[in-house]
Amino acid sequence: MPIVDIHTHVYPPSFISLLRSRTAVPYIRNFPDAPSSSRLIILPGEDDPSTPSTSRGRPIGPEYWDISRKVAFMDAHGIDVSVISLANPWLDFLPAAEAAAAARAVNDDVNALCGTHPGRLFAFGTLPLSGSADEVAAEVARLARLPYMRGVIMGTSGLGKGLDDPALDPIYAALERHRQLVFLHPHYGLPPSVYGPRAAEYGHVLPLALGFPLETTIAVARMVLSGVWDRFQGLEVLLAHSGGTLPFLAGRIESCVAHDAHLMKEGKTKNRRSIWDILKKNIYLDAVIYSEVGLQSALAASGSDRLMFGTDHPFFPPLEAGETEWLSVKTNYSAIKTAFGEDRKSADAVLGDNAVRILRLS
Ligand code: URA
Ligand code: ZN
Repeated sequence: MPIVDIHTHVYPPSFISLLRSRTAVPYIRNFPDAPSSSRLIILPGEDDPSTPSTSRGRPIGPEYWDISRKVAFMDAHGIDVSVISLANPWLDFLPAAEAAAAARAVNDDVNALCGTHPGRLFAFGTLPLSGSADEVAAEVARLARLPYMRGVIMGTSGLGKGLDDPALDPIYAALERHRQLVFLHPHYGLPPSVYGPRAAEYGHVLPLALGFPLETTIAVARMVLSGVWDRFQGLEVLLAHSGGTLPFLAGRIESCVAHDAHLMKEGKTKNRRSIWDILKKNIYLDAVIYSEVGLQSALAASGSDRLMFGTDHPFFPPLEAGETEWLSVKTNYSAIKTAFGEDRKSADAVLGDNAVRILRLS
């Protein structure tokens, strides 16, 4: 029974060089008051000059780019296979004219990294979403021919207007045609004003614990409301962090649709696929939710055959030096163990068998 980690990130060395060459978010910098340690500044607002440079962003070291560190982490946590993906914000920030070539270079790099550990590493590719829809669709087709690629990772901004933008239709069509699963992952969070004037006192907790999952939830709700899965019934999407809050809120979203006079007048409450149907036929969920309660909601919404173990490595490392087993990983393992109890078959499915089947890893 293999253990497969489908939510695990890497910045290949070429991408690290790009981040080191930049001075606006996203970038990597050694600040004068701590010159020997590099910090990774990626999230909107992380660059606020009122934050001391030693707590801006997060420390970054070889665990973000050195593939031997990924494999050592896998070995230390009993993980047989990892499906690696470029971490946020992917290529979203690149000028349009640079995006397509950068995507090809990053995807070739990541595919080659997988080739250094055959059978242990597969990957989700990245898309040139600041480029044109044609360029994105062409990269989807190219990724389908790279041996270790099993889909794409992307954020919620689409071509700049979100995932309910009809301009994405040729891209959704290409993803469906080439059977490339989308790993949908948050990055932008919510507007900082919602966190209030004391937000800086709370570290990264509010944007990561709440901004990320709500961003995902809103993005998917917009896809559902705009009929993406009515038009592309074979489009498969893996949602990060067990779907944000989608499994928990799906009933409320459906109820709001059923009671919306505007939608009714426009004839949009009938002949549409419900979120429940989409959750069971098009959506997969990772098991990166850190508690049995959240996992049970994901399980009830999508089923144990659509949930897949993940770690979010190298994010959420232990804060104390010398801890070899990561608390973030142990918490997700133990949520799975508690949720399934004696039902070993379902636990094994979530830990690896589902990923092998869904992502064709054998
Ligand atoms: N923080 C990020 O910016 N990305 C992740 O994937 C996890 C935490
Ligand atoms: Zn992640």
